[in-house]
Amino acid sequence: MKIGLFYGSTTCFTEMTAEKMQAFLGEDLVDIYNIKDSGLTPIKDYDILILGISTWDYGELQEDWEALWDELDNFDLKNKTVALFGQGDQLGYTDWFVDAMGLLHDKLLPLGPQIVGYWPNQGYDFAESKALTEDKSHFVGLALDDEDQFDLSEERIATWLTQVMEEIAELS
Ligand SMILES: Cc1cc2nc3c(=O)[nH]c(=O)nc-3n(C[C@H](O)[C@H](O)[C@H](O)COP(=O)(O)O)c2cc1C
Repeated sequence: MKIGLFYGSTTCFTEMTAEKMQAFLGEDLVDIYNIKDSGLTPIKDYDILILGISTWDYGELQEDWEALWDELDNFDLKNKTVALFGQGDQLGYTDWFVDAMGLLHDKLLPLGPQIVGYWPNQGYDFAESKALTEDKSHFVGLALDDEDQFDLSEERIATWLTQVMEEIAELS
């Protein structure tokens, strides 16, 4: 089994998260791709994907994801399992917290993947987010805020990755 971790990152927070995730799961298991350099084509090579995106400019996509957004429609994700994570700033952008992760989730859904890694929204302090499930009880992936809650990130990453791996094991 191999996991492809694809991320877009403007000021390196999401990139650092990707590296922490690779360190946690092991380099043998996880290949990481900065989509600015790799593009999205290698997505085809993996059955399991972890996708990381930050939110910018009041609820907008990170720029590298934005540049490749239309290309996403070309992928058939029906036999793939996908987990999402996002970096944001819940105090500075409280009405748009990790919105881009929600936009990515909505973009992927019609492509047919099995999505894992939904994450409870307790322990955060924000007003609105497009990255919540319909019942608003969960985020559609791991929400991280290295601006305001850096101290919580490492444990959140470990707990979430453990959850994701368990969900993947249950699927197979
Ligand atoms: C100009 C600017 C706009 C931002 N807009 C949002 C936003 O709308 N929602 C949010 O949750 N975070 C927002 N953020 C916070 C970033 O998502 C956060 O700094 C993140 O860690 C950046 O990750 P990256 O360096 O991987 O791109 C914004 C940050 C800046 C500097």
